[in-house]
Amino acid sequence: MRRVVVAACLLLAACGSARRGEPIVGPIAFSPAGLRGERAYMRVCHQCHPGGEAGLGPSLNDKWLPGFLIRFQARHGLGAMPAFDAGRVGGRELDDIVTYLGELRRAG
Ligand code: HEC
Repeated sequence: MRRVVVAACLLLAACGSARRGEPIVGPIAFSPAGLRGERAYMRVCHQCHPGGEAGLGPSLNDKWLPGFLIRFQARHGLGAMPAFDAGRVGGRELDDIVTYLGELRRAG
């Protein structure tokens, strides 16, 4: 029984991202904050997480990552990922990057 519930949850989670009536492929409609975030992301994150996919770093577009974790990781770094201080990525830019990654994942 428990296994059935788990499977149902996984199924719901898998179907949750496709919005009915909207094309799944094609350009993503980013919000203004998401677009600003994309620009900042391309400047500082893209080289290791290309387009949100895995590169030197892991993929960021296929799992739910809480905003505080993205901010913490960006500010403090981890392993091969360098830390970015406010001089390299401003507070609002980091917020925009979090928005961008959320919209990227939801569109995928
Ligand atoms: C020089 C390469 C590099 C750059 C630039 C970089 N990262 Fe990373 N990132 C990594 C690596 C490597 C890891 C895996 C670290 C580990 O777990 O040891 C990682 C991990 C992460 C994780 C954790 C993912 C997970 O699945 O737990 C997040 C979130 C993240 N990066 C966000 C960012 C953001 C946002 C930026 C831009 C501000 C950025 N990264 C820039 C290399 C990079």
